[in-house]
Amino acid sequence: MSRVAYVNGRFARHAEASVHIEDRGYQFADGVYEVWAVIGGRLADSPGHFERLERSLGELAIAMPMSRAALAVVLAETVRRNRVRGGIVYLQITRGVAPRDHAFPARPVRPSIVITAKAVDWAAAQARAEQGVAVITTPETRWARCDIKSVALLPNVLAKQAAREKGAAEAWFVDDLGLVTEGSSSNAWIVDQDGILRTRDLNANILRGITRSSLIGLIAEAGLKLSERPFTPEEAKGAREAFITAASTLVMPVVRVDGAIIGDGKPGPVALRLRALYLSHAQTKVG
Ligand code: PDD
Repeated sequence: MSRVAYVNGRFARHAEASVHIEDRGYQFADGVYEVWAVIGGRLADSPGHFERLERSLGELAIAMPMSRAALAVVLAETVRRNRVRGGIVYLQITRGVAPRDHAFPARPVRPSIVITAKAVDWAAAQARAEQGVAVITTPETRWARCDIKSVALLPNVLAKQAAREKGAAEAWFVDDLGLVTEGSSSNAWIVDQDGILRTRDLNANILRGITRSSLIGLIAEAGLKLSERPFTPEEAKGAREAFITAASTLVMPVVRVDGAIIGDGKPGPVALRLRALYLSHAQTKVG
């Protein structure tokens, strides 16, 4: 079955879907995006992703191109038309098309909107989770507004590529304080030697992960201890467990950091439990 994409009000064959060469997303990375996990044909943590989308757009003074309800319909329709039961849906909104000039267009233009959906084999992802993945660390090189889910992702691209080249699934950025901020496309977590879950706090320059915030609720319900206290790569290497969270990977155990084995080299019980809790949350509390 051929894939379809939604582009500015129409569905088009994925291979032929295109945007204008003077789209400001293309020329300036002047836009934002969101990624939802699709689990059982529905969008996981839907409201949280909409809230963050509206916030990101607001920070860039780009108007929502349609109401949240209308957007939800188009997202669901994109998922349906691509027959995705398990996967991800990607939404990108840019400031729109205008003659190239760094400042905003003098006369307002219509934001451009693109939506794609793709299947992810969540069963294969589960098998990967049962093995765990490796991460590397890399110096933080991003701008100071990582709270905005902007499509300007060059440092993230370079970090992810560096990870791939070392056989790792993710790269964790380490800031000037020597503390891990987050991954190139995920939030970073450890279970420290006291059994406390640790992840970077939201005052730091990180993306407010929606999977992260749902998981914080699940951690509280499960009676586990959490401290939004940063950690160093050394603390990660000496941790009982480590894992990452994102819509694209859900909760993914980490078994190596810069080549050092975490715990006994196998995914830890807390990470696996949180993965199972998140999956059941996503299946039941979907928007
Ligand atoms: N990335 N931090 C960064 C830098 C991210 O890019 C992401 C998600 C996250 C996790 O956020 P959430 O739990 O809301 O997915 C944290 C998406 C999946 C991506 O870029 O494809």
